[in-house]
Amino acid sequence: MLKGAGHLRHSGAMDKRPFGLTRRPVAVLGQGTWQLGDRAASVAALRRGMELGMTHIDTAEMYGDAELVIGDAIAGRREELFLVSKVLPSNASRKGTLAACVRSLKRLKTDRLDCYLLHWRGSYPLAETVAAFEELVEKGKILSWGVSNFDVSDLEELWKIRPQVACNQVLYHLGERAIEHAVIPWCEKHDVAVVAYSPFGSGSFPRHKTLDEVAKKHGATARQVALAFLTRRKSVFSIPKSSSPKHTEENAGGSVPLDGADLQALERAFPLGKPKSLPML
Ligand SMILES: NC(=O)c1ccc[n+]([C@@H]2O[C@H](COP(=O)([O-])OP(=O)(O)OC[C@H]3O[C@@H](n4cnc5c(N)ncnc54)[C@H](OP(=O)(O)O)[C@@H]3O)[C@@H](O)[C@H]2O)c1
Repeated sequence: MLKGAGHLRHSGAMDKRPFGLTRRPVAVLGQGTWQLGDRAASVAALRRGMELGMTHIDTAEMYGDAELVIGDAIAGRREELFLVSKVLPSNASRKGTLAACVRSLKRLKTDRLDCYLLHWRGSYPLAETVAAFEELVEKGKILSWGVSNFDVSDLEELWKIRPQVACNQVLYHLGERAIEHAVIPWCEKHDVAVVAYSPFGSGSFPRHKTLDEVAKKHGATARQVALAFLTRRKSVFSIPKSSSPKHTEENAGGSVPLDGADLQALERAFPLGKPKSLPML
């Protein structure tokens, strides 16, 4: 880790950890792509992120032109990436999932996804979507599959169909820690990677004295501290979205070595709250 002032702090090499049962080493901090801004700036941001090791790239067929923008940004770098996209629940029939995946691959200009997710639960039976995912694995169009916005009851149901899910992508930021009650423990018990989406509250990042104090202590920024806090458990990955290389550089430095006192202070500043059903954006 390079020590430097605030936003200049970034990793020499991005930390990686095994991505659930796939065991593939995946960058702890990746890049989200929902509501990308200016196309050229977004391509530049994604490329800067890849240079800094943020090689875990998250998208979805739902995210407008994001797959097309990523297709441009990743040209020549496909081999180093962990590329994830998602099928919309309204397309997640067996046939619909197969077709949606082919469309995503075309937009991304690649021949495979590293992981393909069901974006959230819809009305098609889970078994149908899982059958499609397995067919896509057999055809080499996806290397693994997972889900998003699944609460423990959904995960239990899925596990009975096929105990193979690579990840669960869920809402997790300093102001919304509900997944710590049951979803993270369930995922850790079953070796399912947890991917934290909207780590900055999707544009409403909190200001707090404690964040600033911890950041100052480590020569980091408040957002870097937030990312380090969210990924403090070995099962958790995070995918902040940025539309500028400058923001991405800051986010790449989110592996601040928080100590016990920092964690306690952050726990007090951003309390866990009571258990509740899974929140989603
Ligand atoms: N599975 C799901 O249902 C689901 C739902 C929501 C999101 N996601 C995924 O998770 C990703 C991240 O979540 P998100 O996009 O909702 O929100 P987020 O990452 O929590 O926050 C993005 C916002 O933070 C700003 N930002 C990022 N880095 C910054 C920095 N260093 N300094 C100042 N501002 C900064 C961005 O501004 P700029 O754009 O101007 O840089 C943008 O306004 C999404 O892009 C998507 O891939 C998944």
